[in-house]
Amino acid sequence: MFDSLATTLRNFFSRALQIAYPDVKIPPLEVTRSTQESFGNYQFNSAMKLAASLKVAPRKIAEEIVKAAVTLKEPFIERLEVAGPGFINIWLAPEYLAAMVQAALQDLRLGIRAVKKEKVVIDFSSPNTAKEMHVGHLRSTIIGDSLARVFEFLGHDVLRLNHIGDFGTSFGMLIAYMKENTQYAFNQVDEISLSDLVTFYRQSKVAFDADPEFKKRAQLQVVALQSGDPETVKIWKIICEISRRAYQEIYDLLDIKIVERGESFYNFLLPFIVDEFERKGLITPSEGAKCIFIENAAFVNREGEKLPLMIQKSDGGYNYDTTDLAAMYHRIGEEKAERIIIVTDAGQATHFQMVYEAAVMAGYLDKSKVRFDHVPFGVVLGADGKKFRTRSGDTEKLIDLLTTAVSRAEDILKERNPDWSGSERKKVAQALGIGAVKYADLSSNRTSDYTFSYERMLRFEGNTVAFVMYAYVRSLSIKRKISADIEDLIKNEKIILKEPAEIALALHLDRFSEMIEQIVEELLPNRLTDYLYELAEKFNLFFRDCRVEGDPAQNSRILLTEACGRVFEKGFSLLGVQCVKRM
Ligand code: ARG
Repeated sequence: MFDSLATTLRNFFSRALQIAYPDVKIPPLEVTRSTQESFGNYQFNSAMKLAASLKVAPRKIAEEIVKAAVTLKEPFIERLEVAGPGFINIWLAPEYLAAMVQAALQDLRLGIRAVKKEKVVIDFSSPNTAKEMHVGHLRSTIIGDSLARVFEFLGHDVLRLNHIGDFGTSFGMLIAYMKENTQYAFNQVDEISLSDLVTFYRQSKVAFDADPEFKKRAQLQVVALQSGDPETVKIWKIICEISRRAYQEIYDLLDIKIVERGESFYNFLLPFIVDEFERKGLITPSEGAKCIFIENAAFVNREGEKLPLMIQKSDGGYNYDTTDLAAMYHRIGEEKAERIIIVTDAGQATHFQMVYEAAVMAGYLDKSKVRFDHVPFGVVLGADGKKFRTRSGDTEKLIDLLTTAVSRAEDILKERNPDWSGSERKKVAQALGIGAVKYADLSSNRTSDYTFSYERMLRFEGNTVAFVMYAYVRSLSIKRKISADIEDLIKNEKIILKEPAEIALALHLDRFSEMIEQIVEELLPNRLTDYLYELAEKFNLFFRDCRVEGDPAQNSRILLTEACGRVFEKGFSLLGVQCVKRM
């Protein structure tokens, strides 16, 4: 195992800087990828920042650092060059790049350094009981799963939590309605589908708004549910079970593992949380409700009025806010989380910032010990640029959306490979169709809105799953043709890089760990898709420029191909995309 390239270089420049300016207090140094290939592989950017404290011109500083760096005689540096106002351009030695690839081939973690194991709670997917899961939940599911996979790959202890909206006053309405208007025997889950529930829910809402008598009965059901009345709880459980089955169908299709821990799980903590905030003097009463106000210019509504977290309503009921504070308390206190990550649409950003600040105020969350991130994402848009909907105007049912992607993938495969058997086509279509939905979502920077298009996500060119997968399949076919004993080659043969395409490919392979480090920091899965897209392009150039079979460099090139295959496989698995062997 070894440090990422950027880390190695930062350490290197820190040593050089120490030699050039022994008295300087070394700031965090910045080493980044070069913006252009002609500027080398990496660049050192910190001379400009150092200029102020050293009172020396940045170019001069860069020159002094280069002079000192040369005396270190590090074999991984091929050449250093001062450029522009004081950048240092860095060319790495091909022998070093080759050795890194070789080391990665000998390691199941592809050379990625072991990290200090942390408890990481990731709250994602989190649909709402008695409602259909929508495309927003799909985004949360896909992004959250991929982040969880990255943390798991690094060896962290990840708890994947499904914070289902399975409690609250709206269930009183639904239960009252079902008791009065449906003839179902409530112990038969199989007789009711989620669509039925959605219909009942809609009708119960109409009745609730129109009929004050029904409203009263619904409120009584809330009380009954909260106090654990067996008949009411039984119906509630059935409602949850029906919803759960519908979600599970989607999770199975997407290959998602997640632990259900819905809002109801935290019920036992809610009175305690309110008491605690009261005891600590953090509550401001407002029209009978108990509110928390946080001094922060960002926490205001459009009219500029301060926004509260309302943790108990005037009727004594608890809220989404209360549950999220209880969840913070539980995840830190009981689960011992060191990182908490919650993945939802950007619309909830303020809510989570407020919950975070409130948890700090209450002493639940110590900023120096626990890192909290709300991971927001944009809206899913249809081809018309409006919020994604089906033709009927209803929001698209997720299951239909996924099966459509698979059947479209199947049509494309039928055209490309008419000779395939039906069962093989189905298998590959499943992987590509679902893979396309995931890849398209993950590859757009999550913070922006994302336009859903079957046609685009299933293309074979550009930054798509099919393009990248095709490069992977090619790497398999090269190996198949030569049928070498790979393990034997790894042990006994050396990678030697000569051609520019080989060097560029090896450099990119060596950047894998750096990209993973970035994801853990920024929580942007599109770093990984960008990486894989570039890997596919670099692999294709290598394949075009460098003969493998029968060339004197055959063994070295098979090893390079093998390394690509492994990185593709690992990359796809971190995206939650299934690999195929043929396309
Ligand atoms: N159920 C919520 C929704 O559909 C998402 C819950 C996210 N997690 C949380 N701890 N609040 O928008």
